[in-house]
Amino acid sequence: EAYKQEIAAFKAKTAEELEQFRIKFLGTKGIVKGIFGEMKNVANDKKKEFGQVLNAFKQLAEAKYEEFQQLKEAGNGAAGNLDLTLPGEPHRLGTRHPISLVRNKAIRIFERLGFTIAEGPEIEDDWHNFTALNLAENHPARDMQDTFYVQNNPDWLLRTHTSSAQVRTMELGKLPIRIICPGRVYRNETISARAHCFFHQIEGLYIAENVSFADLKQTLYYFVQEMFGENFKVRFRPSYFPFTEPSAEMDISCLICGGEGCNVCKHTGWVEILGCGMVHPQVLENCGIDSTKYTGFAFGMGIERLTMLKYQIKDLRLFSENDLRFLKQFQGVL
Ligand code: PHE
Repeated sequence: EAYKQEIAAFKAKTAEELEQFRIKFLGTKGIVKGIFGEMKNVANDKKKEFGQVLNAFKQLAEAKYEEFQQLKEAGNGAAGNLDLTLPGEPHRLGTRHPISLVRNKAIRIFERLGFTIAEGPEIEDDWHNFTALNLAENHPARDMQDTFYVQNNPDWLLRTHTSSAQVRTMELGKLPIRIICPGRVYRNETISARAHCFFHQIEGLYIAENVSFADLKQTLYYFVQEMFGENFKVRFRPSYFPFTEPSAEMDISCLICGGEGCNVCKHTGWVEILGCGMVHPQVLENCGIDSTKYTGFAFGMGIERLTMLKYQIKDLRLFSENDLRFLKQFQGVL
């Protein structure tokens, strides 16, 4: 009876007090166990009654223990010794990769001109990556892009440019076409400060009636101005691509060394940023587009190169090393 009163009156304030209670009443050497031990000394005909009383007593102690269970859980966690003055764990916000920042900026610029995004697979077949683009088998220009083949199958390859996605769009036959194709491309090149075995491109394609080279130039002038601002020079040079005629490349004055000479511009003061030209009539025909009715321009650029110029990054390998000291320097969410 005395124990019953003690149990009824018990109130735990701390986990420690509760634990003391548990040891005293419910532990392996506790009072409940002890009284159960007395069972053997009870006369047989009283055993039943004694057992009932005992069980009720045990349940009473257990119920009390349960009542303060919360205290115990809190005590086991940090709350028991919570120090609100300790510095908190910072929430580390991620940052966008610089390649994504520049890609997104480029996409927004072209969207303003009415271009929409078209995408294609990174594993391509020979037709979409080469043949449709006027690079027949054994065409020497295939050597311009060192291709990774999949399982040595000459028909499966990792696309060397996103022009393959443009072919796929042209084949759908819905005209006019005004698309940009952002995406990752692969070339078997020795990895260095200027080249990698994979990189990112944005290629553009505009096909309609009466599209001219002047339209191409104006589009690209607008693009570089929006991307880089005012303080640089631009020049077009004639060039060659099998899928465009005439073809050109565009250079901008080196934004890294300001013309002083650095490894990115190879000490020339100029950096080539894109290839472009009027879509070759044969390419239009290969994709089922009437080349007597339609003309178009195309261009393609490497996002890594643009990003290096925009942020004065001298080594392209930084983009794929996942070094947080590098990546953390780029803020912005768009
Ligand atoms: N596809 C070319 C390349 O990857 C770039 C290009 C695109 C050139 C469109 C001209 C026209 O190098």
